[in-house]
Amino acid sequence: MNRRYRKTIIAGNWKMNKTPKEARSLVDAIRPLVSKAKWCTTVLCVPFVDISPALKATRATKIAIGAQNMHWEASGAYTGEVSAQMLVEMGVKYVIVGHSERRQYFGETDEIVNKKVLAAMEAGLKPIICVGETLEERELGITEERIRLQVKRALHGVNVENIRRLVVAYEPIWAIGTGKTATVEQASEVCTLIRDTIRELFGARAARSVTIQYGGSMNAENAAGLLSQLNIDGGLIGGASLKPESFKAIVDAANQ
Ligand code: PGA
Repeated sequence: MNRRYRKTIIAGNWKMNKTPKEARSLVDAIRPLVSKAKWCTTVLCVPFVDISPALKATRATKIAIGAQNMHWEASGAYTGEVSAQMLVEMGVKYVIVGHSERRQYFGETDEIVNKKVLAAMEAGLKPIICVGETLEERELGITEERIRLQVKRALHGVNVENIRRLVVAYEPIWAIGTGKTATVEQASEVCTLIRDTIRELFGARAARSVTIQYGGSMNAENAAGLLSQLNIDGGLIGGASLKPESFKAIVDAANQ
């Protein structure tokens, strides 16, 4: 973390969990536990149908609500899709873009990710852009190439003025939901590489303003170690974000 230049952000990614009623109860449980976090922004990225109850349950708090996906067009014949404008009007502030589960199960390519990033920023949403290598890519020694390519493609055409409004999450695919966390060294190395890539593209000032998160089995036990790294400015939390006490412990670690 380096709070002088950028925000520390802990974002929960609920994935496809919690009905609207259950969402209300979970937010009610989380809210008092994270309300003292002064130095860290807390975001809850919930399913579309949970956005309204989550917004109600976080009214007059500093907790921000995020979505997990969006379409890149403003409106039109795209059955089943939701646009950035729709989310903004509701009061949503963040949106996860290019999560590996979207890439893997729903065919999202780097090109689609780029369109979504541009559309999100245009509408005033802060994208949380996910990048990460597969186990095979890591074993082949091509993690660096993979990450650089994903970052460059995702950020193609982004205005340098807008760089500070985006978040990049490094999520090694082999660590998501598996209980296998990247070591502090592995996570730090790739988060540093991401910042270096942004520096090459947009310059030093822009690069140091970007929040770079780690995600992949981050939990109450390993959060402090990961967050102690200069280039790890927060976390994107799946499983542990559904457990109020675990989520609190991660927010506490980020608030140190
Ligand atoms: P996990 O998920 O914390 O359950 O590994 C992280 C993510 O997919 O964003």
